[in-house]
Amino acid sequence: MGSGTDVSWQVTSGAQDPGTVERLLSLLPGWFGIPAANADYIRSAQVLPTYLAWSAEAGPAATQPVGVLLARRHFRAEAEIHLLAVEPSQHRRGVGRALVEAFVADLVSDGCALLQVKTLGPSHPDEGYAQTRQFYLALGFRPLEELSEFWGPQNPCLIMVRVLDQPAPLAGNDGTEFERATSE
Ligand SMILES: CC(C)(COP(=O)(O)OP(=O)(O)OC[C@H]1O[C@@H](n2cnc3c(N)ncnc32)[C@H](O)[C@@H]1OP(=O)(O)O)[C@@H](O)C(=O)NCCC(=O)NCCS
Repeated sequence: MGSGTDVSWQVTSGAQDPGTVERLLSLLPGWFGIPAANADYIRSAQVLPTYLAWSAEAGPAATQPVGVLLARRHFRAEAEIHLLAVEPSQHRRGVGRALVEAFVADLVSDGCALLQVKTLGPSHPDEGYAQTRQFYLALGFRPLEELSEFWGPQNPCLIMVRVLDQPAPLAGNDGTEFERATSE
């Protein structure tokens, strides 16, 4: 199990936790209000690499994670945040940033160059997702494209991308960028 700590939050990885995903989704109905989509997330949590954020102050007494990130790796050089959810009572206290940066640190050390996330696009008036986009912008993601076909015209899908710092240049034209990752 991996771990990383900022001032307030400890992030662990290496254990599946569908129960935490279910609990956090139920606390965030404004963002996760589609039952079938939530069921998919809970199923994904059984298999996808999982990062959990815990209160560092509570130490070993912390019983429930306050945030979760589910990760996907499509190609050797590209990864995706499949799900990110933080307990509403802890919003804006650095939990989301701690989760994303823990994932990014692992990706950079594994030669990954790009991180994407799909979220509700600016064509939709939802205020909550406007704040979500502000969060991703603050963490260095940039909007790439809004797709009306992906989730359907009622839910425009915005792809946001962050270029990750690379310790070494990617290999040349040898096809390694197209190697599929084992979790796909
Ligand atoms: C989006 C979410 C994961 C962010 O997590 P968080 O712990 O609240 O965010 P952080 O405290 O780490 O914020 C980091 C930075 O992002 C920006 N940010 C975060 N929330 C913001 C908001 N509501 N409005 C504007 N900027 C915001 C700020 O720059 C913030 O840094 P600062 O507080 O020092 O100014 C969390 O709010 C959440 O669970 N939202 C509902 C579910 C969701 O949107 N998931 C993602 C779906 S794609």
